[in-house]
Amino acid sequence: MCGIFGCVLKNGEVASTIHSSLKRLEYRGYDSVGEATLHEGKLFIKKDVGKIDEVHATHDLDNLPGKIGLGHTRWATHGAPTKVNAHPHTDCEEQIAVVHNGIIENFAELKKELEDRGHFFRSKTDTEVIAHLVEEKMREGSALKAAVAEAVKRLEGSYAVAVVSVKEPDKIVCARKESPLTLGVGENGVYCASDIPAFLLYTNKVVIVNDGELVVLREDGCELSKIADLSLIRREPKVIDWTPEMAEKQGYPHFMLKEIMEQPLTLRNTLRLQEHYLELMTTFLDRASEVFLVACGTSHHACLAATYMFSKLAFHITHPVIASEFVEQYGKSVNIDSTILAVSQSGETADTLASVESARQRAATILGLTNTIGSTLTRVSRVYIGQQSGPEIGVAATKTFTSQLSVLSQLAIYLAKKRGKISQEEIDVLEEKVLKIPDMVETILKTQQEKIKQLAKKYKNHTAFFFLGRGISYATALEGRLKLMEIAYVPAIAFPAGESKHGPISLVEQGFPVVFICARDDTRKTLAGNIMEMKARGATILAICEEDDTEIKRLADDYVEVPAGIPEVLSPIPYVVPLQLFAYYMALERGCDPDMPRNLAKSVTVK
Ligand code: F6R
Repeated sequence: MCGIFGCVLKNGEVASTIHSSLKRLEYRGYDSVGEATLHEGKLFIKKDVGKIDEVHATHDLDNLPGKIGLGHTRWATHGAPTKVNAHPHTDCEEQIAVVHNGIIENFAELKKELEDRGHFFRSKTDTEVIAHLVEEKMREGSALKAAVAEAVKRLEGSYAVAVVSVKEPDKIVCARKESPLTLGVGENGVYCASDIPAFLLYTNKVVIVNDGELVVLREDGCELSKIADLSLIRREPKVIDWTPEMAEKQGYPHFMLKEIMEQPLTLRNTLRLQEHYLELMTTFLDRASEVFLVACGTSHHACLAATYMFSKLAFHITHPVIASEFVEQYGKSVNIDSTILAVSQSGETADTLASVESARQRAATILGLTNTIGSTLTRVSRVYIGQQSGPEIGVAATKTFTSQLSVLSQLAIYLAKKRGKISQEEIDVLEEKVLKIPDMVETILKTQQEKIKQLAKKYKNHTAFFFLGRGISYATALEGRLKLMEIAYVPAIAFPAGESKHGPISLVEQGFPVVFICARDDTRKTLAGNIMEMKARGATILAICEEDDTEIKRLADDYVEVPAGIPEVLSPIPYVVPLQLFAYYMALERGCDPDMPRNLAKSVTVK
């Protein structure tokens, strides 16, 4: 779970390009950073432990000679975050440099084998074996391209790898299996990277590299081949309509805030979904005897909300399953009649992909919902929908969550129509309301932001929180709780409000903060009772409620308003927005960096 980057320029020195591109990949990992360049037959390397800005402050990452080079931002898997374990890694003679994202499962055997043949290892990483394997092949007479192909054939596990050698100083060779790898073809050079925003500033012409493929980058272009037999592959670049500004902070202090504020726009984009995709996807969902909604983290919360949507609108039972448990829980029982709808912003989450793979082997139908076209999930899905959120750089998912909810609610409404389970009148209301959701979110952002900022000042010193909701708002509560926990480091529990009396209420004492999600649905009356129970035990109540809900406002110590008239099944979209802002401002109040929560990375590509 790291970011790799490589670049061959026609003109100018490459170091500052590598540095700025790594900054845009920092969300993939940030415990150490490194760059390697080739110049006049020599390899130059700078690397160290720390975030990119820290390493730049001491090492000046813009100052390395040469117009060809590699970069890496790391999230440790094998070997602690130390200078020696930072990438790039080199061979015995320091003639070859390698950057890698992924995990080499058989690295211990390979390392032993290589050490037995006299290779000298400097680091504790799995990656270093690649440098030594390439070294051996080149010593035996292979050119760099063939040497990389032969080396990666020995690897078990996952990799996106980029390699340079002083012996062939005009090229970078990269290869992919399971870890993401993209290419950019620009006027002044070519780029390889774990993700498109890394080079979007320089070009929007993109080639996606598939599993089992190898690429040679030279200043005049890229050549793709199959790793298996080095046969050439022709693939024209596609133009991506993300502007570089879309991947920058646009004047906001943090990506997370920028992405929260972008939601009216991203939600409008999800409404441009082509009917053709809704038709295809719901055809599969409709005929499935059982549907599993498989995802991790925030995407799982979207799936949980979707089960209420599918059940209430289309009378279709779906099972939300946390991907890391799917194989254990259902691996043996899924079959040809099962349908898996995998939801993953990145499309690369290891547990989600492992669930999909296991279900695929048992002939289940795989459907995908993702933000990343070209990701592994899009390739393994029978049908997939791109959620059109644009790149999300903040580690905490925000705009991608509301986009997922928007797509899932459109699917549920479409399926309801297909199945004829609810009246045309209800469908008309829902379709009209879906169109209004972006405006509602815009209103919340405009009217409630300042108030939420002040609430964060009031609540910043609390050491634990409850987040409670009933019905579909349970999913909203889970997401609000995850946001607060992951970026402000405040322990928090979320559970259906009806569960309080079965245990958790014993934690409540004077001033204990409880956030209630008070959607105006059939559960609201009982929820008001739950608020009173909490108040009676001294809890401080922060309610998210509709603007005209005077009863809830009267019960609560503090409240945040959302516009009135939101249908229950759509409520998680507007109701989660105040919770995202609350977590953001709590993080700031508590001195945490909301874009880079400790121990987390944007894309979890290991199980
Ligand atoms: C939380 C968060 C994670 C992701 C999870 C799944 O803010 O971002 O919980 O939701 O790692 O990621 P994707 O959707 O890429 O599969």
